[in-house]
Amino acid sequence: MRVRVIGIGMGPQQLTPEAAAALRGCDYAVAARKREDDGLFELRRAVCEAHGLPLVAVADPERDRDAPADYRAAVADWHEARVRAFEQVLAERGGSAAFLVWGDPSLYDSVLRIVARIGERGEVPVEYDVLPGISAPQLLAARHRLVLHEVGRPVHVTPQRRLAEAVAAGQDNIVVVLGARPAFQGLEEWSVWWGANLGTGTEELVAGRVADVLPEIGAARARAKERAGWVMDTALLRRPS
Ligand SMILES: C[S@@+](CC[C@H](N)C(=O)[O-])C[C@H]1O[C@@H](n2cnc3c(N)ncnc32)[C@H](O)[C@@H]1O
Repeated sequence: MRVRVIGIGMGPQQLTPEAAAALRGCDYAVAARKREDDGLFELRRAVCEAHGLPLVAVADPERDRDAPADYRAAVADWHEARVRAFEQVLAERGGSAAFLVWGDPSLYDSVLRIVARIGERGEVPVEYDVLPGISAPQLLAARHRLVLHEVGRPVHVTPQRRLAEAVAAGQDNIVVVLGARPAFQGLEEWSVWWGANLGTGTEELVAGRVADVLPEIGAARARAKERAGWVMDTALLRRPS
């Protein structure tokens, strides 16, 4: 059975010709759906429709949030349930499947782990490859006409919940994903380049000194959420020199 893990970028305008050709060569596409009105799932559907591909929804299994006593075990069970949900679609449908990934599969996404785990379990024999997509930090950089780092300097990418740790460790040029909302306490003098719902009709962009633009970011974030029904944002933060 053939699985193609396809990064679709930030939506229908972002698909590379290579990814589009891979999509057209598959029998169907598979993507997780978190709930009935999952806006990101609908964007994936638009991508599939444009390429004549049926999209199979895989319901995201419920995570047992009432079992904090063994948090790790609860998360492991949830991962395994997700693996089985995808595996079941492959077992039932056979053929070649496109696993659609928002942005690029290499950045904060679990699909590659799920597919590798399906392979390890051996219930459904799979061969897979990966097609890259445009990631949120890349599109953020393009929209702000930015290089993500200064000449010859590094860039650090982190989920928001580890931002304070990165700052304390001396990182001075940081891309924040997974909740880049205005929680930049202590970074008021830093520069920020922020974007929400990048690549979609509800895109928002703000840039400036953190202390100056925080209210603007809050308002733009609320607007994106109101218009799209969901919001995802990414930011580059740079320490003043
Ligand atoms: C689970 S990660 C997926 C990242 C994705 N694989 C990529 O290549 O960008 C989700 C996070 O990516 C960022 N993100 C994804 N789509 C975005 C968008 N359209 N606009 C802004 N940020 C986005 C947000 O920080 C969001 O919390």
